[in-house]
Amino acid sequence: MKKSTIREVSRYAGESVTIGCWLNNKRSSGKIQFLQLRDGTGYIQAVVVKSEVSEEVWEAARSLTQESSLYVTGTIREEARSQSGYEMTVEKLEIIQLTSDYPITPKEHGVDFLMDHRHLWIRSPRQRAILVIRAEIIRAVQQYFDEKGFQLVDPPILTPSSCEGTTNLFHTKYFDEDAFLTQSGQLYMEAAAMALGRVYSFGPTFRAEKSKTRRHLIEFWMIEPEMAFTDHEESLTVQEEFVSHIVQSVLRNCRQELETLGRDISKLEQIQAPFPRITYDEAIDFLHEKGFDLPWGEDFGAPHETAIAESYNKPVFITHYPTSIKAFYMKPDPNRPEVVLCADMIAPEGYGEIIGGSQRIDDPELMEERFKEHELSKEAYQWYLDLRRYGSVPHSGFGLGLERTVAWICGLEHVRETIPFPRLLYRLYP
Ligand code: 4AD
Ligand code: MG
Repeated sequence: MKKSTIREVSRYAGESVTIGCWLNNKRSSGKIQFLQLRDGTGYIQAVVVKSEVSEEVWEAARSLTQESSLYVTGTIREEARSQSGYEMTVEKLEIIQLTSDYPITPKEHGVDFLMDHRHLWIRSPRQRAILVIRAEIIRAVQQYFDEKGFQLVDPPILTPSSCEGTTNLFHTKYFDEDAFLTQSGQLYMEAAAMALGRVYSFGPTFRAEKSKTRRHLIEFWMIEPEMAFTDHEESLTVQEEFVSHIVQSVLRNCRQELETLGRDISKLEQIQAPFPRITYDEAIDFLHEKGFDLPWGEDFGAPHETAIAESYNKPVFITHYPTSIKAFYMKPDPNRPEVVLCADMIAPEGYGEIIGGSQRIDDPELMEERFKEHELSKEAYQWYLDLRRYGSVPHSGFGLGLERTVAWICGLEHVRETIPFPRLLYRLYP
């Protein structure tokens, strides 16, 4: 008996194979039953013909309920009308478990109900498509950096100090000391870049954000490259190439999943480097023209980002933000120290900021000044200052938020569907 997954059935056209699967749906027309089967790798229709199977097999097929688990054996046939291109003619059927009262039925359910049943909801075709695309994005990320000679480095999760400000830190005890869950691996990646040149990390990050928006998760995954001997402009070139590579990989390898989601593929096809760039000043002028009342020096919110993004069919970089609203480590523009050499990449179609990045301060004196201004303890950041004291070099890096990237590429309303088990304000179950 040959075993196959649904994904691999094309190898077995004309042969009999066994597939371990679940019943997704079924319909019947008297003497024929059509079983819609899923095994996680794909979907296939299995046809049970009464006159061609034993009474036992016929009855077993009749008894199947949604999400019952089974082994089905039959001959694989090419079938142009099916999504996978193949169908199975059933010969044998072995039920593993008959399911009753599966909570998620094909009818509509509310968001809270689905979130309470997230452990089952991920079996649905839409949720599966999203998780497959998420996995493809991660593959594309690793492929991009591996091919460009970056080394993968893993920064710690438990940290003694903050990277992105102290307002949204997750506190925990570390024996007798205080510790925090990491908000960003960046500071450690800077140390790694001084050791290995070009590095990237991929890991979970945590922010105790009290905001309940469709773009914020409490636990999210970030990809953080850091590059020695690289200035702000060079970093932007890497970012646009990198994001184009991700989108083009998904287009190449996840057509069916994008179709399942009903994504407008033509919008993604336009995502090719280079991406447009505007300065913070230009963005402020543009927003004033659009009727927004936002003084110079204030940060943009989601409505501002969306208004700016609407002018472009590609992601747009907003560069040179005011120094006062950005992180302590960003390098001031030498010609204009009131702004920093930084950029946020804003996705098109209203998906918001997907990348935050900058050139880093490399001067030890200026770094010490910043510690004072931001009231960061010199002792806690001594190691970070060392990077500026021993062979300091110009360097830049950025962080791509995985879930916002998934939301954009999949065309999703809310980031809660972009991660298998979302951690949201007021939601820690399941
Ligand atoms: O702009 P952020 O805060 O930048 C950093 O953390 C830098 N230290 C990164 C670096 O230069 N190495 O976060 C980077 C990205 C954002 O652009 C966004 O895509 C995502 O992380 N992000 C979130 N995604 C989901 N939920 C949240 N609460 C997020 N906060 C940030
Ligand atoms: Mg940011």
